[in-house]
Amino acid sequence: MQATARVTLCVSGSVAAYKAAVLARLLVHGGHDVTTLLTKSALRFVGEATFSGLTGRRPEVSLWGEPGEPHVAIAKQSRAIVVAPATADLLARMASGRADDLVAATLLCARCPVFVAPAMHPSMWRHAATQDSVERLRARGIRFVGPEQGAVASGDVGLGRMAEPQAIFEALAPSLRAGPLVGRHVVVTAGPTLEPIDPVRALTNLSSGKMGFALAEAAAALGARVTLVSGPVALTEPAGVQRVNVETALEMQAALWAATGTDLSKADAVVMCAAVADFRPVEVSRTKWKRRGHSCALELVPNPDIVAGMGECRTGQRPVLVAFAAETDSGIELERRAREKLIRKRVDAVVANDVAEALGGDTSHALWVDAQAATDLGRSSKASIARSVLERITRLLGA
Ligand code: CTP
Repeated sequence: MQATARVTLCVSGSVAAYKAAVLARLLVHGGHDVTTLLTKSALRFVGEATFSGLTGRRPEVSLWGEPGEPHVAIAKQSRAIVVAPATADLLARMASGRADDLVAATLLCARCPVFVAPAMHPSMWRHAATQDSVERLRARGIRFVGPEQGAVASGDVGLGRMAEPQAIFEALAPSLRAGPLVGRHVVVTAGPTLEPIDPVRALTNLSSGKMGFALAEAAAALGARVTLVSGPVALTEPAGVQRVNVETALEMQAALWAATGTDLSKADAVVMCAAVADFRPVEVSRTKWKRRGHSCALELVPNPDIVAGMGECRTGQRPVLVAFAAETDSGIELERRAREKLIRKRVDAVVANDVAEALGGDTSHALWVDAQAATDLGRSSKASIARSVLERITRLLGA
């Protein structure tokens, strides 16, 4: 199931209207179906073509012209409405329950969560009339994102800048989730870790992070809140996923425990897909190692086994713990190794795959091994394997 939700984006007349195009793009990229409503004054700042190009839907600008009652239909179909930018005038009209254009009438009909991102000159924002509107709207459950402190169009500085599109999108994201994992927190690790040797050298591995990012995307598509703890990779995180960047195994361990809580109560599932370095240099040289005419030794110490540490701390059945095993074996030997890790690391399942195929590629051949059985997930794209893994995790969560 996809996390597709109908979102209505209302744009009113402010210089910040150009940023609404970026927000539309983020929403579409997140898999949402976006209807744009433009006020008359918004049309002085941005064009209909921008939004129809980005969303694949013609923006609506008028209460009149279409059969039926567009404001009623649009309000009914919206999972959430976001007003970005929201001018002082629109906030005042919303606060006093006006319905004098399509945007105001739709907002008056809305029964879904409504988010507003104000944008105006700081004097207008500070004015008692605006603050009165804001207070009344907040009391009615309207959620405000921003405004922010900074320079506004006139060059003056103060509170009035519209929040950045990414921040608005993130505020909105929880209301747009749909699927069996709504209300669940899934933590995924991805990519390699990197253990510095000196200021220019490091120990790392060839993990691309693709599988972990696909898992994060699949979890988000099922409605989960997702934290993605990632080693250094050149990938963009899926929309709506909270990414935490780390380098070393110890940093990954700290980020993971921060996401799950020390008693593991803040996560419903942990999917440990990262290729964690098993060793790190005993000390990191502050100066660059110089070429020597003879061989030299690098002393290494073992890194903690992060997932095994979680398996050891877990008292009940939550969070569901899934480890990965990239092996050079196949067939029955692959299954045997996966089962050995399942027991040793005290996890619920191990996803095993052939390292030669999985490393860096877009496809993999994965085997899901749990206490009951081993299931061949087939040779497929990483996106498809990620969906199969998340389906099984959903079942384990009884969701
Ligand atoms: N893992 C971990 N912490 C480590 C190393 C690995 O949490 N320090 C996790 C990986 O993210 C993966 C699983 O453990 O989910 C399997 O890692 P692997 O390196 O194959 O396991 P090892 O216990 O190191 O076994 P092997 O002897 O095969 O290297």
